Amino acid sequence: MSRAKVQAHYNEVAEVYDQRYDLRQGRLYHQHLSRLVLDRLPNRGFLLDLGCGTGLFIDHYHTLGGCAVGLDISPGMVGMARLRCPESEFLVGTADVLPFDDEIFDSVASLLAFTYLHDPEAMLRESYRILKPGGRIAICALSWNMLTWMVPFFYRLGERLGYNKIGMGDFGEHYYTGEEMEKMFSEAGFVDVSSARCSFAHYTLSPRLFGIAQRCEPFIEAHIPYLAFNVCVSGKKE
Ligand SMILES: C[S@@+](CC[C@H](N)C(=O)[O-])C[C@H]1O[C@@H](n2cnc3c(N)ncnc32)[C@H](O)[C@@H]1O
Repeated sequence: MSRAKVQAHYNEVAEVYDQRYDLRQGRLYHQHLSRLVLDRLPNRGFLLDLGCGTGLFIDHYHTLGGCAVGLDISPGMVGMARLRCPESEFLVGTADVLPFDDEIFDSVASLLAFTYLHDPEAMLRESYRILKPGGRIAICALSWNMLTWMVPFFYRLGERLGYNKIGMGDFGEHYYTGEEMEKMFSEAGFVDVSSARCSFAHYTLSPRLFGIAQRCEPFIEAHIPYLAFNVCVSGKKE
């Protein structure tokens, strides 16, 4: 997978992405993920958002009184983030090589970016390094299940057919199960590691179906989590 390809794609879709997730269903979908991630970061404090995109999560974090830095590989996405949150710092860079000193952040968050990483183990090691002792990490990403395993195939097909939609292309994305991610977190040194599958209502559904899926979402997450398509994994640095 080429980082340059991911970067070029998100540069191209940055404006559409920002609008899509800031309006109606996209906003509700993203807010749901943001809440789940925040629930797993009780320390809050000085936060680093990896693969921060257009700053949607950092914007939300600010409204709660938090202070955060965002890092993303796409200058286009970072440009939108700077417009959205002029009071925050945003850097262009890759999440597996972090340009920060050891032990300066209280929390690390990452939403919908983990599947793109070439070297997710390095991202977790780097996160461990820059977290203060007692600091926490929470990552929410698309996960592997009987529905999502086909998504990369359709994205590759879509690219061949010339569709230019958010996320559509052959980026070599990898979807993990919660158990696989928990193992990676533990190997990076994190303790108190846990995961939960989440999300049943995807913003691309028609409004009627989205409404139905949203009403079913709490039940699915609690009782039939295998049908939930994202996973939220967290851990703590001792
Ligand atoms: C689906 S978007 C999610 C953006 C944002 N976290 C959100 O929740 O809206 C995926 C983001 O991951 C970024 N990304 C992909 N690979 C990355 C890497 N190696 N390092 C940092 N960011 C990366 C992309 O540029 C893109 O902004």
